[in-house]
Amino acid sequence: MPATLDEVHLRHLRELCARRVMIDDEGLRLGDTYVMFFAESALMAEHAAALLGGQHEAHVLEIGLGLGVFAQQIAPLRPARYTAVEPHPAVVDLVAPRVREHLPCPVVVVVEPWQVLDLEPESIDAIMYDTWPPDGQADADFASFVERVAIRVLRPGGRFSFFHSGTQLPKSRADVLDRFFADWSVMKVTIPANRLPSGWTKPTGDFLVPCARKGVQ
Ligand SMILES: C[S@@+](CC[C@H](N)C(=O)[O-])C[C@H]1O[C@@H](n2cnc3c(N)ncnc32)[C@H](O)[C@@H]1O
Repeated sequence: MPATLDEVHLRHLRELCARRVMIDDEGLRLGDTYVMFFAESALMAEHAAALLGGQHEAHVLEIGLGLGVFAQQIAPLRPARYTAVEPHPAVVDLVAPRVREHLPCPVVVVVEPWQVLDLEPESIDAIMYDTWPPDGQADADFASFVERVAIRVLRPGGRFSFFHSGTQLPKSRADVLDRFFADWSVMKVTIPANRLPSGWTKPTGDFLVPCARKGVQ
């Protein structure tokens, strides 16, 4: 069952969708904030490998299309279908054509927030979660997404990954993974300082690439 959108999320989404979308040589800006950089390609390639390595013809779901960097990284892994969920219509208009051109499979873009998503149960092999929640809501949204969406739409044995800046996974995230998945692991990835673009807005060049697997029972 889809989660609901409370007043905090409705206000955040209204404000998000009112932001002007700009793509330049460095990345994607929503209003005056860079939210994704082309310099994150190698990081997104690691997420793609963790999610799709050894899986053929995977049905992939990404929450937050953004700049389409992750989407482009799955191309060599020959997915069977890519579905992106992205509420900002101008992000979709600017980015989806490039993703469609790049991927060797059908591309579906749902122009909605994930909270109203209603996908077939057990229809997805791999999920990448990389969104922009309201301030102070990131952990609650993450837990809600895993419980209400990820576990329902992943097929048994399906994989889940998410964007994580820094070198430590907070206990709250680890607890959610422990509770809902059969097993999980994390890998460290660093974008070297000399590769960070001048407009870099993220707290560090260090990241974790988590990968959790849904149980088969
Ligand atoms: C950091 S970007 C994603 C970058 C993307 N992974 C890539 O590789 O380019 C975050 C995206 O999440 C979108 N977003 C914000 N709230 C969302 C929601 N409730 N559901 C889905 N996407 C959302 C934003 O509009 C933004 O495009």
